[in-house]
Amino acid sequence: MTERTLVLVKPDAVQRLLVGRILGRFEERGLKIVGLKLVQVDRDLAERHYAVHRDRPFFPGLVAFITSGPLVAAALEGPGAIAMVRAMVGATRPPEAAPGTIRGDLAIETGQNLIHASDAPETAIAELALWFRPEELVAYGRDLDRWLVGPST
Ligand code: RTP
Ligand code: MG
Repeated sequence: MTERTLVLVKPDAVQRLLVGRILGRFEERGLKIVGLKLVQVDRDLAERHYAVHRDRPFFPGLVAFITSGPLVAAALEGPGAIAMVRAMVGATRPPEAAPGTIRGDLAIETGQNLIHASDAPETAIAELALWFRPEELVAYGRDLDRWLVGPST
């Protein structure tokens, strides 16, 4: 089933010049970029995005980190995109992230784990609505889709 999911390429990835490499992994896999922007996140958006973690001890540090510099928000589309992107991102704690995943290849600390990805269909819908206005998400065809996803789409 075709799904859309939200990815945040976090401020550490922007500072480490890894935006292109990280987005490139999704692009190479065949996922379609349907929304993309650089955002300097304010405290209100950060707190709303991470509201589920509001009572956790790491919450203040997490909000400080995600607002510390610009990040890149991307909406990605493809068959089973939500679980696929989570698998490509890897475990939250980089020491536990498998080699071949983004965190397993490029990150070393939980606080600077480079990337966020929606973890379920409901959170993907809510997060895409939080980060993108409807008109910022663009539906379009790609000639390559017949080679990537087959003739049916
Ligand atoms: P994310 O939401 O950023 O995609 O990461 P995730 O689902 O893999 O992890 P989650 O449990 O949702 O945690 C959100 C972010 O909070 C920071 N964190 N720090 N110090 C800690 O124990 C701790 N645990 C989580 C991480 O930056 C994590 O990405
Ligand atoms: Mg999460």
